[in-house]
Amino acid sequence: MTFVVEVDVPVPMRDGTALATNVWRPEGPGPFPVLLVRTPYGKDDAGTFGNPKLPDVFALVEAGYAVVAQDVRGTSRSPGTFVPNAHEGSDGVDTLEWLAAQSWCDGAVGMWGGSYMGFTQWQAAVRGAPALRAIAPVMSSADLYGAPWYSPGGALSQDAVLTWGTLSALRNLRRDLADGRGDPSDAGVLLEGLADPRLLHDPLPVAERDVMTRHLPWVGEVLGHPERDAFWQRVAAIDHCDGITVPALNVGGWYDVFIGETVRSYTRMRRHGGSAEARDGQRLLIGPWCHADGTDLGTFPDRSFGLEGSIKAADVTAAHLRFFDRWVRGRTDTPDDPHPVRIFVMGVDQWRDEADWPLPDTRYTDFFLAGGGRANTATGDGVLTRDGAPVDAVDTFLYDPRRPVPTVGGTVLAAVPGAYPGPADQAAVEKREDVLCFTTAVLERPVEVTGHVTLVLHVSSSAPDTDFTGKLVDVHPDGKAILVCEGVQRARYRRSLTEPEPLEPGTVYELAIGLSVTSNVFLPGHRIRLEVSSSNFPRYDRNTNTGGTIATDGEDDLVVAVNRVHHGPARPSRLVLPLIERPAAVHPTKGEVRA
Ligand code: BEZ
Repeated sequence: MTFVVEVDVPVPMRDGTALATNVWRPEGPGPFPVLLVRTPYGKDDAGTFGNPKLPDVFALVEAGYAVVAQDVRGTSRSPGTFVPNAHEGSDGVDTLEWLAAQSWCDGAVGMWGGSYMGFTQWQAAVRGAPALRAIAPVMSSADLYGAPWYSPGGALSQDAVLTWGTLSALRNLRRDLADGRGDPSDAGVLLEGLADPRLLHDPLPVAERDVMTRHLPWVGEVLGHPERDAFWQRVAAIDHCDGITVPALNVGGWYDVFIGETVRSYTRMRRHGGSAEARDGQRLLIGPWCHADGTDLGTFPDRSFGLEGSIKAADVTAAHLRFFDRWVRGRTDTPDDPHPVRIFVMGVDQWRDEADWPLPDTRYTDFFLAGGGRANTATGDGVLTRDGAPVDAVDTFLYDPRRPVPTVGGTVLAAVPGAYPGPADQAAVEKREDVLCFTTAVLERPVEVTGHVTLVLHVSSSAPDTDFTGKLVDVHPDGKAILVCEGVQRARYRRSLTEPEPLEPGTVYELAIGLSVTSNVFLPGHRIRLEVSSSNFPRYDRNTNTGGTIATDGEDDLVVAVNRVHHGPARPSRLVLPLIERPAAVHPTKGEVRA
């Protein structure tokens, strides 16, 4: 087909700043429905993002949409200063109003794009504009505290903050240098951190990242707001979801740093969205993917989900077109997918359509921690059992922030030394004395876990504050211990993310630790394992165990904590798994699926 391209169209904002904008539209006067993406990563690449997580721009134009890509304020060819999220609400609304006034626009606009581009969608949606009809945030969040900057348990997502902060600081530096400002040697410091993440992550205090914060002061502000205070509430679109009247297609990956918030956006909008369309039109699509590119084929070094697990196989472009045709074009003759939820079920490695999330037939089931008090390492005596622990016991480990448990795979943004995002074998960390392992007997029948995984622990510590981490692991018959999902709870935030409370050393507390969400069938011959520790670094920042301000604690402040997990009839520490029982046809037995 022939289409028209306009480059660097200046779109005026309310303060007079004109944001650089590209337009691709079918030839002819139109008017056309419009699909808008607002990006800090360079609008000129929008036509060739080549990112299979995002829809194919040419397919969208061919389907009759005008596609509009804009550099957000202070990035690429748009003037101003880039302050993440500071202007996305008003700039988004101004752009939507400008679009609605163009002769080639039919007055209906959808927004799309991944990650930061998703933040811009939620900010525009919460402010509202008559032209906006639907949004499609891919691997994104409407609550930036929950992801990507902190986590639901209150620990800093250090990997995401410092990796993304470095990349953004580099982009800002490039602009400064082009304008004859800035110090070229800063580039070397920033690039060294990317090349060797130990240089990026290990130095303390975390808050002293001068080069990064000089170019992106917002990173300093993130580190200065460890509680979910007004700084975060201001940009948490999800806190005001009853004011959001447009439906969203939420796309996520089980191993994406945003997955918890992707799912929460769906569940909150489905129940509390500001219109029937917003509630009924919510869609959720989740594959076995992580945030970084390179794993889009559904194949990771320790685990392959097969080509069915690839993003291409999920046909994200077709999902966008179905969704936008329904809500932006208003076509009811080709209805949007009748199933609001489509998930890739790992283990059986199959796609499945579902009626809602959490799945309506979920049975939350306790798996109790048991053993004689030597659960340290995978060869210890820790047991996970549905029957309840017969005797009371205590497992003890030393958590030394100078020697944190290294992150191996999981929901990191980018590769960290010796690891990569996704379903990695945990064998190396399960040899550590500071990792407790609780494992079921070999399964005789498939056990499907789909939904929110919660760990309830009875704990005590010698420190006034410390962390407890958990990982759900699928132990394969060959012994590979593949990470399924993970989480952390910072003890001071056990009751509230806004009003921290120190621990009384030695007192036993019950903590609920969210281990996020998953969908995984543990096959016959496999075992279900829970790992408990106090660090997962640099996925999360190290708790310094002082009870003070963690980001400003230095090397000399670090304290070793003696941490204990109590279990048994008196203190029923347990993993609460969302079990799904379906006919045998959807749960093949061992041998019918790839190992
Ligand atoms: C992203 O746009 O990919 C992104 C933004 C913020 C944090 C992490 C990732």
